[in-house]
Amino acid sequence: MIMMMMTTTKHYTFWILLIFSISMASCSTIPSLGAPEIGINYGRYGSNLPPPEAIPSLVNSLSIKHVKTFDMDPRVTKSFANTGISLSLCIPNDKIPILASNASEAESIIRTFILPYHKNTIITSIAVGNEVSLMPQFSSHLVSAMENVHQAIKRYRLHKKIKVSTTHSLAILSRRFPPSAAIFHKSIAESVLKPLVRFLQRTNSPLMVNVYPYLAYKQSFPSIPLDFALFQPMNNSKRRKYTDPYSGVTYTNLFDIMLDSVDSAVKSLGLPKIPMMVSEIGWPSSGDPGEVAANLENARVFNQRLIQHLKRRGWNKIPVYIFALFDEDQKTGATVEKHWGLLYGNGSRKYDLNISPPI
Ligand SMILES: *[C@@H]1O[C@H](CO)[C@@H](O)[C@H](O)[C@H]1NC(C)=O
Ligand SMILES: *[C@@H]1O[C@H](CO)[C@@H](O)[C@H](O)[C@H]1NC(C)=O
Ligand SMILES: *[C@@H]1O[C@H](CO)[C@@H](O)[C@H](O)[C@H]1NC(C)=O
Repeated sequence: MIMMMMTTTKHYTFWILLIFSISMASCSTIPSLGAPEIGINYGRYGSNLPPPEAIPSLVNSLSIKHVKTFDMDPRVTKSFANTGISLSLCIPNDKIPILASNASEAESIIRTFILPYHKNTIITSIAVGNEVSLMPQFSSHLVSAMENVHQAIKRYRLHKKIKVSTTHSLAILSRRFPPSAAIFHKSIAESVLKPLVRFLQRTNSPLMVNVYPYLAYKQSFPSIPLDFALFQPMNNSKRRKYTDPYSGVTYTNLFDIMLDSVDSAVKSLGLPKIPMMVSEIGWPSSGDPGEVAANLENARVFNQRLIQHLKRRGWNKIPVYIFALFDEDQKTGATVEKHWGLLYGNGSRKYDLNISPPI
């Protein structure tokens, strides 16, 4: 019944040459503003993963309180009951066409996978499909499917608690640089993304985006310096800066550029700014020969500095879900696909990561 989904192979196009300047950093420590929402993706393409019942305590040991899955497996949903950890679930891609055409099917899914569990397990959102916006066989049905799922949730009066969305790779942008000039692919801008963003705005749901500075860095090599992709330390006296020539906004890391490019693309549709959720972000610890930036130390540095970045004053409180909990040895495609975990498949830590570092 439950179909597992691949997180689609992450691919990127373009990136023109960036022009950097070097700034003298101010060395003041930057105070934080409350706890950011930091979650983790629980993908299950591993041959040796711990059973679902063992996951909540592993997640807890990382000081993480939010988990995103790629399916709606009742065994997983049940295992998070009464743990205080919230779940973001996902409806498999291949259900999208039928969900679009048959509202009873959407009700049936909510009745089967949500109603029995939501009282004990905190379910915060449901993604209808994963990175399907550029796949016409799904994207043409996407908004109708999301609407039917939302209506089904509303019928059971859960729409204030459970938001309906869908995830996007940044391949949806045909231009993302400079960030203020970013736009969506023509093929989906008006037909898919405009109604989709309107649906999200109407239902108070976030736009879910998968943001991979590693892939942008790799794609554009050597025009983006590695430390710019890895969130340079704030006290680095040779910090690089990039200033968007149109907006005048100055950036010190690639992540902020990538997020702002999505904001601009939404604006280019003539729509107001929409709350976002970074549904995936991470750095691989290993890759194919030549992918030298994919290593354990860079993965640790990226994730640790990401967390520090999210705690800074001025950071706009977008929920961020790290990819991923486990290395997944059954992932196909490039070698990096198997090495995004904070944990090895057997549950042991790959490196030290302090999710709640003292301020
Ligand atoms: C719609 O879905 C319901 C519930 O799964 C099913 O019983 C019904 O046969 C479906 N209708 C059509 C026209 O496929
Ligand atoms: C910057 O701060 C880090 C951690 O706070 C420290 O380990 C490092 O030595 C500092 N670097 C410089 C150049 O001051
Ligand atoms: C878990 O797997 C890693 C990588 O294969 C290995 O280095 C480590 O020893 C294993 N730990 C346990 C407890 O088996």
